[in-house]
Amino acid sequence: MKKFIPAYVSVPVIFFAVFGAIEFFVDSGDRPAFIKFPMVAVFLFVFLFLVIAIEITMRAVDNITYLLLTEEEKIKLNETNNLSFKDKEWYKKLMEKLTKTAPLADEGQLLLDHDYDGIKELDNNLPPWWVYLFYASIVFGVVYMVRFEILGADNQEMELKKEIAQAKIEVAEYMKTAPDMMDEKTVTLLTDPADLAAGKVIFTTNCAACHRADGGGQIGPNLTDDQWILGGGIKNVFHTLVNGGRDGKGMISWKGTLKPKEMQKVASYILSLKGSNPVDPKAPEGEVWVDENATVAVK
Ligand code: HEC
Repeated sequence: MKKFIPAYVSVPVIFFAVFGAIEFFVDSGDRPAFIKFPMVAVFLFVFLFLVIAIEITMRAVDNITYLLLTEEEKIKLNETNNLSFKDKEWYKKLMEKLTKTAPLADEGQLLLDHDYDGIKELDNNLPPWWVYLFYASIVFGVVYMVRFEILGADNQEMELKKEIAQAKIEVAEYMKTAPDMMDEKTVTLLTDPADLAAGKVIFTTNCAACHRADGGGQIGPNLTDDQWILGGGIKNVFHTLVNGGRDGKGMISWKGTLKPKEMQKVASYILSLKGSNPVDPKAPEGEVWVDENATVAVK
């Protein structure tokens, strides 16, 4: 009669093996494979259920068979079952191959004539598993030496730097095409009338209450003049919209309300108001903003 690995061991092992394999081999992006492919989970659970069912059935069959045995057969069976795997033939052969130890009977020939207060020494062969490991480490050492010290392959630091550089390129590439992924570094000024019109709608709805419909300023500063508290230009204005103004001034962060694309539009709209000279504007606040890309140097 065969001894089974108990279900409480085999079932979790199988479960995690399959789970691991799926996570590893199935490219599911950022979500766990199971959530992306629920059929896999269903299949796995059916499979686990089957394993458990088979296990339970086999156990039951085993128990019944055991009951049908004669006393003598029971004793014999218990003996073979209790045989430790160390007494099994294949294990002995394997160990012999790996260690090349001489049988205990021949020990007399191996005895060296050292005798340290009764402690004696046997001249056994070096175990082959050890020797091969040693050779392998020499080969590894030579390959390593040639590759990294002579041919100058990248070390970990270099590899990391290259990967980071590559990742930066990929992110920049992605940002270019992803419409809703934008930050103050990649944002650009929109000049298309349709975009500015959309920006105006956003401004009228969300911002006019504090900055006045014409941008002339009320609670919030005048947005049509040359002076900016938090910096002018599309990048700074975008930054202000994303992060809000200084604490306690009343200008909130809009990143929870507006999408990056919308912030870009409303920021571009504000900048298009420059020099529109609304009636009765709020006095300029902050400093004159000079665009760092401006060709004429203004003091
Ligand atoms: C509750 C009133 C309020 C609302 C609504 C509001 N703002 Fe402001 N805004 C302010 C205040 C106050 C400041 C000055 C912040 C500071 O001094 O730090 C400000 C500052 C700004 C600045 C920076 C001005 C500078 O001089 O640097 C910009 C740009 C701006 N707001 C745009 C907007 C836009 C766009 C919206 C709508 C999406 C908006 N604000 C909605 C009150 C408001």
